[in-house]
Amino acid sequence: MNEENASHARGPIGIFDSGIGGLTVAAAIRNRLGNEDIFYLGDTARVPYGGKSRQTVERYSVEISGLLLAEGAKAIVVACNTASALALEKLRSLFRAPILGVVAPGADAAATQSKNGKIGVIGTRATIASGAYERAIRLLRPEAQVSSVPCPLLVPLIEEGLLEDPITDLVLARYLSPLLEKGIDTLVLGCTHYPLLKTAIARCVPGVQLVDSAENCALALAALLRQESMQNPDPARTGHFRVALSDSSDAFLRVAERHLSLPIGEVELRSVQGSSPVG
Ligand code: DGL
Repeated sequence: MNEENASHARGPIGIFDSGIGGLTVAAAIRNRLGNEDIFYLGDTARVPYGGKSRQTVERYSVEISGLLLAEGAKAIVVACNTASALALEKLRSLFRAPILGVVAPGADAAATQSKNGKIGVIGTRATIASGAYERAIRLLRPEAQVSSVPCPLLVPLIEEGLLEDPITDLVLARYLSPLLEKGIDTLVLGCTHYPLLKTAIARCVPGVQLVDSAENCALALAALLRQESMQNPDPARTGHFRVALSDSSDAFLRVAERHLSLPIGEVELRSVQGSSPVG
């Protein structure tokens, strides 16, 4: 590795989400690639993305990716399912750096793991309306029967910390019973927040395998860094974890911190609006 490549490989992995939920992806990446620096940017000023149009989500994603690359990110992980579903192609057309979303790794795992080919997908309204998971699963397994359900009430419940609560169980039963009736054996948790509800979801759909996009994204990132020879050259170090938000932190940051055991120190405040794209 020449000096320029080695210094690039020491750059952080830039991760972004519409808010705090993408910390589930950051936590999975830290567990797998503990020697890599991470710069996480949560767009808390403009969250939620889940009900916004493609044009808006693309614009936000371009602004944030430009900022992360200007900060020296060697690769970008779009932790937000909504942004992955709606803006990944746009980002790849504008930037040269490797850009990874959460949809393809999650779809890949679901297509591989399902035995009966009946796969459920849950996510925000925008993610489900985009059909991105369905397309990605069918690409790998054309005969798969994919049933998708938007679950707009789950993000607010999770942000309120109601992870083990009868109200959450009722809402889950309402959203998930149609999927059980379809005979799914695999369910994709297609939203950053849902891994925090894994226990309650598993209770509601006994016997169904849950596919956590966060875990699978971390695996795919490890493979991508290896393939591009972009791994941090020092395997023994502990990576820095830097968090920036576009609005002052909210209560959900502490919910996520507690449940994900992440070392979130000082949180920077960054303005992302109008950041200019760089290649
Ligand atoms: N991060 C979003 C996702 O994974 C959920 C929150 C939002 O709607 O912005 O789809």
